[in-house]
Amino acid sequence: MQTHEIRDRFTNHFVNLGHTAVPSASLILDDPTLLFVNAGMVPFKPYFLGQQNPPFENGTATSIQKCVRTLDIEEVGVTTRHNTFFQMAGNFSFGAYFKEGAIKHAWALLTNPLEEGGYGLDPERLWVTVYLDDDEAAEIWEKQIGVPAERIQRLGMEDNYWSMGIPGPAGPCSEIYYDRGPEYGQDGGPAVDDNRYLEIWNLVFMQFERGEGDKKGNFEILGELPKKNIDTGMGVERVAAILQDVDNVYETDLLRPVIDAAQEITGSVYGEKHENDVRFRVIADHARTAMMLVLDGVTPSNEGRGYILRRLMRRIIRSARLLGATGATLEKFISTIMDTMTPSFPEIADNRERILRVSATEEKAFLKTLESGTQLFDETAAQVKSSGKTVVGGHEAFQLHDTYGFPIDLTLEMAAEAGLEVDMAQFDKEMAEQRARAKADNKAKKHGHVDESVYRDWVDNNPTEFFGYSDLTGESTVIGLVSNGQSVTSAQAGDEVEVILDATPMYAESGGQTGDRGRLVSGDTVLEVTDVQKIAKKLWVHKATVVSGGVELGQKITSEVDSAWRHGATQAHTGTHLIHAALRQVLGPTAVQAGSLNRPGYLRFDFNYTDQLSDAQLEEITLIANQAVDRNLAVNTIETSLDEAKKMGAMALFGENYGDQVRVVEIGGPFSIELCGGTHVDSSAEVGPVAVLGESSVGSGARRIEAYSGIDAFKHYSKEAALASGLASSLKAKPEELPDRIQSLTERLKSAEKEIQNLRTQQLLANASGLLEQAETIGTTTLVAVTLDGVSGADLRTLASDLKNRLAGQSAVVLLASVDGDKVPFIAAATPSAVDEGLKSGDLVKTFGQYVGGRGGGKPDMAQGSGSDVAGVDAGFAAVRDVLSSR
Ligand code: SER
Repeated sequence: MQTHEIRDRFTNHFVNLGHTAVPSASLILDDPTLLFVNAGMVPFKPYFLGQQNPPFENGTATSIQKCVRTLDIEEVGVTTRHNTFFQMAGNFSFGAYFKEGAIKHAWALLTNPLEEGGYGLDPERLWVTVYLDDDEAAEIWEKQIGVPAERIQRLGMEDNYWSMGIPGPAGPCSEIYYDRGPEYGQDGGPAVDDNRYLEIWNLVFMQFERGEGDKKGNFEILGELPKKNIDTGMGVERVAAILQDVDNVYETDLLRPVIDAAQEITGSVYGEKHENDVRFRVIADHARTAMMLVLDGVTPSNEGRGYILRRLMRRIIRSARLLGATGATLEKFISTIMDTMTPSFPEIADNRERILRVSATEEKAFLKTLESGTQLFDETAAQVKSSGKTVVGGHEAFQLHDTYGFPIDLTLEMAAEAGLEVDMAQFDKEMAEQRARAKADNKAKKHGHVDESVYRDWVDNNPTEFFGYSDLTGESTVIGLVSNGQSVTSAQAGDEVEVILDATPMYAESGGQTGDRGRLVSGDTVLEVTDVQKIAKKLWVHKATVVSGGVELGQKITSEVDSAWRHGATQAHTGTHLIHAALRQVLGPTAVQAGSLNRPGYLRFDFNYTDQLSDAQLEEITLIANQAVDRNLAVNTIETSLDEAKKMGAMALFGENYGDQVRVVEIGGPFSIELCGGTHVDSSAEVGPVAVLGESSVGSGARRIEAYSGIDAFKHYSKEAALASGLASSLKAKPEELPDRIQSLTERLKSAEKEIQNLRTQQLLANASGLLEQAETIGTTTLVAVTLDGVSGADLRTLASDLKNRLAGQSAVVLLASVDGDKVPFIAAATPSAVDEGLKSGDLVKTFGQYVGGRGGGKPDMAQGSGSDVAGVDAGFAAVRDVLSSR
């Protein structure tokens, strides 16, 4: 049975039982605790936690969620069941059915005959586990389903108690396993062998709340949840491996074609050697994960999600090379996996070109890295060996990784080949330090300080009501004050304090738009608000300075948004939507948004695109955006469901949950439709001019457009005009003649410089015969050693070459140094007979260079260098004389 059909049967089974079918959320949800969605229940978290009411009829839902887990990346291909990307099919009950329902529904789907819509698995091969004291579940399995008692095993917290690994909903679970037969391992059920007995479905009975602790079951149960919920997860890939009767999850209909493609490209054969098989499987697994990540907007980078993507792509490339590939391989693998995945994920078709472009760019860069990194590694290894050591330092390995993007596993492998080890303890230490720095930086940047626990209570119990879309002032109550990360009850004039209000008109930084500025006023009390940040999407934190009076909990206060600030930020935000729309018109839909910033007068828009934009493209984007301003298009905001928004064609759907009410901002009907929580002008003319400053690269596969908006755009243009007219008047030309005039000036300057250079050379050479008079004889060799003033390295070369030619008939050495500002260029030249006698220019500049703090190199007949220590020139000459006389 094809994987696509396994998915369909799952959804149909639960829809027939009254569940709402919920589409998979993006792999990237706006959840700071997660890099990627890693379980089917993640998008439903707010309903389990009781933060939101589930919007599903019957309180039940079903989904097939895209998941990525990269913790076990080393296991990929080694075991038979580890995929970094997988599809988790689940059914969820929020207070509707509980254990009995969950067990019956799962069993029916697994064992119902094919013609009745089930998977037709042999019930005799199914085993189940339950939590130690969960008699209730055990009894349902035995009495109601008829699983014999010997195929029901009881396991402890580590195996059969599920939580998200953090405080929150938790509960005992019951897992269903499929016995793949004695050829896969020993008898005794899943408690004994989890390779032979393959876990295919986890039924979690979410009924408790857990406290702090770790993932492995060391945590306290705080009490019962108000509702008894069900969260289940069936591994689609594992069921596919069973139903397709293949050995492992890498050989199913979705991944096997990638293995075949890899055989073709590399010339190696799958199934011959375990070591190679692991590489084939890594390629198949990672190609899919990488493709799905790029699809959801991730681009390769050196941190966070982007780093994981980069690592996956690099592992594919390396595996292919180890299997024998020489050129580029990614395109083939990625396009193969796109073919197999598209029926279940039709959106791949629209993104094909973009995904291929991101992959190709990354591969090109990595192949270069491989080349330069290999050279660097060889140098490091040679140094280690020449100093009689056998261990490559952890610091060097870290630098190879950090500066040159050289993966540590590659360093390890190459070290082993060179008979060396790597100091991994030091490497790990430096990596950990770097990670900690990056993490602290990121958090600190956002919230001023790292620990958010101080806000927890307000986030849970008093989320802020925002009324700033319609009003810029309003009354509210101070419900919290935070100073230096501590909750306080009051603050006085001069204090900096974070103010939490029950309701606010002030926009908090989000969606790229900066937080509002403004004032909080109550009688004599005035606070200046310098920033507003949002915590956990729910709590508005006003960063403020108490200018006069004092503020305390419970105080009634009037909030006043700085309307000029807001106006500017709003113009910039609508301006960003105009640029985004214009960009897509010019570059096509593959230019996907990757980030943005809007502050008064300025906007920045990052998008995934690998090529540099031409001037003509930039001009066209600017024109389209300003034409939209000129047409004075109406800007409408519409609150609707995520589904409706998608139907309207809204862009930027990441980070939203099914069932969420979303805000759609529409400019001029189809011109621009985006999901956006920001503030916007009412009609496009209010944005004012949009002046694009230029575009640049921001890391692999992403580019940035920057622009001024509103009055700042006008100021920018008028400054440019003033600049042009100033230039024109000093060059006595009309502004439109400037380009030609400047070009002809530059050309004249160039030819004048050339002429000066010629004259200088002639002058130098005219002096050459004078220099010859200073020649001295040391042993059988003639030495011309002279210091000159203010002569460049290039001129020294001309002169040395001339002198050498003049002395060609004898054994002679020329050594010239010059004091040119704070530099000391120097050069040595040796005639053919001097070279024959073993006097090499390279050795002479090395000797000399030591005295002037410089280094140099070149060929035996001529070598050059540069130093910085003027005081050492004479000693340098003396040293060279010594070399000559000691021969
Ligand atoms: N949340 C559980 C899991 O991830 C069941 O869906 O295994």
